[in-house]
Amino acid sequence: MKKAIITGITGQDGSYLAEFLLDKGYEVHGIIRRSSSQNTQRIDHLSTGKFAEEEKFVLHFGDLSDSNNLNKLIYHIEPDEIYNLGAQSHVKISFDVPEFTSDVNAIGTLRLLESIKEVNPNIRFYQASSSELFGKVKETPQSENTPFNPRSPYAVAKLYAYWITVNYRDAYELFATNGILFNHESPRRGKTFVTRKITTGISNIIKGRQDKIILGNIDAKRDWGFAGDYVEAMWLMLQQDSPDDYVVATGETHTVREFCELAFEHVGIDLVWDGEGENEKGFDSATGKELISISSQFFRPTEVDLLLGDATKTQQKLNWKPKVSFKELIHMMVDSDLNNYNNLYRKEY
Ligand code: NAP
Ligand code: GDD
Repeated sequence: MKKAIITGITGQDGSYLAEFLLDKGYEVHGIIRRSSSQNTQRIDHLSTGKFAEEEKFVLHFGDLSDSNNLNKLIYHIEPDEIYNLGAQSHVKISFDVPEFTSDVNAIGTLRLLESIKEVNPNIRFYQASSSELFGKVKETPQSENTPFNPRSPYAVAKLYAYWITVNYRDAYELFATNGILFNHESPRRGKTFVTRKITTGISNIIKGRQDKIILGNIDAKRDWGFAGDYVEAMWLMLQQDSPDDYVVATGETHTVREFCELAFEHVGIDLVWDGEGENEKGFDSATGKELISISSQFFRPTEVDLLLGDATKTQQKLNWKPKVSFKELIHMMVDSDLNNYNNLYRKEY
């Protein structure tokens, strides 16, 4: 039985990856931060179920800013694989907390790699790299060979993490890989990322709890996939004969505007637009009710306008393909928020 450590296990991806590895027979150890409010909703079904009883799912307090804690955990748990998903992952918030973001996202990665080098260089390491590295893109679509051009403290910190992973692979022959993942969403997505903000907004509007959704740059384009599909690619990267870096994407790009239109369409509302720039608004064509407005509050000092991934290498070498389409993803998220589906938070065991 293999053992894995997951940092960021309470996050969207951490929860899907934990389920995936448990299904594969792994013993999964998650590192969680102490919080004064509950931060384990996405994994509570694992902490209370049969895996926890059999000690196949174990949580440990820790933090990517605390080297001693990481060293101790890696030494005692003796993992075969470490998936570093922990991060301050919100791009806009990284402009507000750039130093914290850099410490956790960049130096946190270094701390793990140093620990692996010292404790057991045979541990396989996955780094959650990001399409944000491409930033103000130098070419489209973006592949493993596209030059990076980051546009936020988040992306600059992830750039350091990317290169320190490559450096430790080259310098110390660690099995260290970067998964350069394009945006991936799910019903478990944090509610301040744009997709979930839209789908929870729609649910609230329909239930009379919210009048409209206030957004920023709705012309930004993203390559959006389903998080549940993407965790398989992470695992596949660590099962190869040698370490490498891989782009994971759908190969389709859509605007935030299109996401809004399709999400409203799914609940029977035809969204029409009027106005320009910050004065643009989205209306229900049948009733004239204002459903979307724009506020400068949600614009970023520097924006990433267009992301579109070329995942040819991942498809060929890992034999991986996304299963859930853009439309299916939107429907899954809208349905989940509308119905308060806890079952999409939970996989029953
Ligand atoms: P997420 O939902 O925001 O989860 C982030 C996780 O990191 C949470 O478990 C969080 O714990 C943890 N964390 C934050 N600061 C930490 C610290 N100082 N020490 C230890 N853990 C810490 O993010 P996600 O969407 O699952 O993404 C997972 C990883 O992939 C992140 O590194 C993200 O940057 C990267 N990524 C995501 C995407 C995407 O589209 N989702 C694309 C490319 C790359 P709390 O619950 O306590 O806050
Ligand atoms: N969050 C947010 N809120 N974004 C908005 C809003 C809004 O009200 N209105 C427009 N947007 C635009 C943003 O400006 C951005 O261009 C796009 O919607 C997507 O924003 P997010 O959903 O916050 O995601 P992100 O692309 O910045 O970052 C996510 O994907 C990265 C991979 O490309 C995060 O998951 C990162 O951690 C990840 O690395």
